[in-house]
Amino acid sequence: MKRQFLLTFAFAWVSAVVCAWGVPIAVAAQQAAGQQQQNAAPPQNANVPPGNAANGRKLFVSFGCYQCHGYEAQGGSAGPRLAPRPIAYAQLMKYVRHPTGEMPPFTEKTVKDAELTDIYAFLRGQPAAPDVDKIPLLKQ
Ligand code: HEC
Repeated sequence: MKRQFLLTFAFAWVSAVVCAWGVPIAVAAQQAAGQQQQNAAPPQNANVPPGNAANGRKLFVSFGCYQCHGYEAQGGSAGPRLAPRPIAYAQLMKYVRHPTGEMPPFTEKTVKDAELTDIYAFLRGQPAAPDVDKIPLLKQ
């Protein structure tokens, strides 16, 4: 009788431990899987035409995008940062044609789709900003 009680008690204890540890472990595993999905390339950029980044840089200047967004598309007083991680390709193609804020519209007559694609390649190809602790001037 006493032995059976002990066995039941041991079983309950083991179940409690498994539940207490199993749930957080399962949650953490799920979060890690979700994180990996987020780190993968955004799906809407999967079919972006390659474009010519060097030509895109020239067009970014000749169409005057730089006046508001900066020569490196780093952002300026009149326009936000666009690079190195621009909005999705389809979104950019639409926005430049029909901006909803301060930005003037650029129609297909002024900037061809292929030219915008080159500009997109330029924006995507811009290097990421260096880590603050890798900038010698900021080290003392
Ligand atoms: C007169 C200033 C000006 C010029 C020139 C300009 N932009 Fe903009 N742009 C803006 C501003 C301001 C915004 C912020 C949203 C708004 O007010 O429309 C913006 C927003 C954008 C966005 C959306 C960014 C986001 O994160 O949603 C894109 C893309 C963009 N500009 C691309 C371009 C391209 C490409 C050109 C050149 C063909 C250009 N812009 C020329 C001022 C400008």
